Amino acid sequence: MTDSNNKHLLEEEAKAFASSGRINYYDIVIDHGKGAVITDADGNDYIDLLASASSTNTGHAHPKVVKAIQDQAAKLIQYTPAYFANTQEARLAKLAPMSGPVEVSWGLSGSDANDAIIKFARAYTGRQYLVAFTGAYHGSTYGSMSLSSISMNMSRKMAPLLPGVVKVPFPSPWEREPDESEEHFVDRFFREFMRPFEAYLPAEETAVILMEAIQGDGGICKTPPAFMKKVYDFAKAHGILFAVDEINQGMGRTGKWWSIQNFDGIEPDLMSVGKSLASGLPLSAVVGRKEIMESLGAPAHLFTTAGNPVTTAAANATLDVFEEEHLLERSAKLGQKAKAFFEDEKEKFDFIGDVRMYGLDGGIDIIDPATGQGDTNATVKLMYRIFELGAIIISLRGNILRFQPPLVITEAQLDQAFTMIDQAFSELAAGKLTLPAKAAEMGW
Ligand SMILES: Cc1ncc(COP(=O)(O)O)c(C=O)c1O
Repeated sequence: MTDSNNKHLLEEEAKAFASSGRINYYDIVIDHGKGAVITDADGNDYIDLLASASSTNTGHAHPKVVKAIQDQAAKLIQYTPAYFANTQEARLAKLAPMSGPVEVSWGLSGSDANDAIIKFARAYTGRQYLVAFTGAYHGSTYGSMSLSSISMNMSRKMAPLLPGVVKVPFPSPWEREPDESEEHFVDRFFREFMRPFEAYLPAEETAVILMEAIQGDGGICKTPPAFMKKVYDFAKAHGILFAVDEINQGMGRTGKWWSIQNFDGIEPDLMSVGKSLASGLPLSAVVGRKEIMESLGAPAHLFTTAGNPVTTAAANATLDVFEEEHLLERSAKLGQKAKAFFEDEKEKFDFIGDVRMYGLDGGIDIIDPATGQGDTNATVKLMYRIFELGAIIISLRGNILRFQPPLVITEAQLDQAFTMIDQAFSELAAGKLTLPAKAAEMGW
C-alpha cells in the first residue's frame, strides 16, 4: 500500500486491465464529480475540459439526472425492450433534423449505432458499398471500426475488416495549401472524393455515405460547407443515403442539438447518437427516416439491455436539463467566450496555430513556429502543465488540444481554466516546461 490512493488503485488495476482499453494521459483515478469539477482518489480537484469525451454534457452527477436514475431503478431496472414496450422514443425522434416520419432504434454504444447505420442502409437500398472519410472515428465494433481511419491500432492485427468499405480523404484544415482559396480547396477534395466513383465504385451499388459533419477525434474540424453540399448533392443524385455520426458532436456540443445543423440545406437520412444522450449511461440510438428504419425485421437489430428503463429515464432527464438550463444557448455563448480567449492567446504566442471553436467544442493546434508543423512535444508539455495546475485537457492527433468542457461549466470555472491555460502557454514560451517522465506513453 502506498500513501497515494491514485497510485495504489492504478497498481491494482494494472494486474488485470487489458491495455487496449485505454489511451493513457494522467496517472489518476477519478473518484467523483459535480458539474464541471472532478475529484481524484487523492482528493485533488480538476476543472474538466473533456466532459468524459463529450459524454457528460450535462455535467457530473446532475441532480435531476441522478434523481431520475434513482427513481427508475427503484421501480424497474430492466425488462428487455426486445420483448416489451418502452415508450421513450418519441422525444428523441422529434428532435431529429429530418422532415417526415422518423423512427428510433436503441443501442448501447456509439459503435453499435454506427453498425446499425450499416445494417439499415444496406437493407433499405439493397446495395453493399459504404463510404467513410479519413480522420473519422466511428467506434470499436467490427462494423464501426471498419468505417474509421484515425489510428493504426484500430485495424492492425484484426483484419479482415468489414468488406465493401471505401475511404475518401477528409478536407482537414491543415491539408489546405498556403494561399489556397476555399473554392480551390473544396474542388480539389471533391475531385478526390469522386475518384473511386469514376474508377471502381459503382454509385448505383453504394448504400450510404457516413460523415462526422464536424470531425471530433479527427481534430475538431468542420467540413467546409461547400464540400458538404457537393457530397450531399452527389448522394441525393444517385440514391445513396446520407448519414451523420453525431455521437461526439451532437447533444448541444456545437451550440445546436446536432452538428449537421451548422450547415444549411442538408437533411440526413440516418443519424447516430450516443455518449451524452443519457448523460453517460450506456444508451445510443440510430435515428432515421421511417421507411429506412422499417426495412429490417426483428431480431435484425436489438440488444437485451439497449434502451432499458434506467438509461431511457436518464435520457429523458437529460433532455429536460437541456431545455430548463438552455444548454444549447449556453454552449453557443460560452463557446464565443472560449473562441475569443484562444484567439487572443494566438496573438500572444507563436506556437498556437489554427483555433477552431464551434460552441464549447474546440481544437487548438500547437505548432513549431519555425516550420508551421504540429509540435507533439510542446502539446504534451502544455497539457501536462495544465493538468498540474488543475484542469483536465487532452490532445488529438498528437498536436491538437481538445477543448470540450461540460456545457454546464460556469463562467467563473471557465475563467479559472483560462488562467491555468494562459500560465502554461507563458511557461512554454519562456522555455520553462519539460516533458513529463511518461511523455512517450501519453496520447493517441
Ligand atoms: C464520432 C464518434 N463516433 C462513434 C464513437 C463510438 O462511441 P462509443 O465509444 O460509445 O462506442 C465515438 C467515440 O468516441 C465518436 O467520437
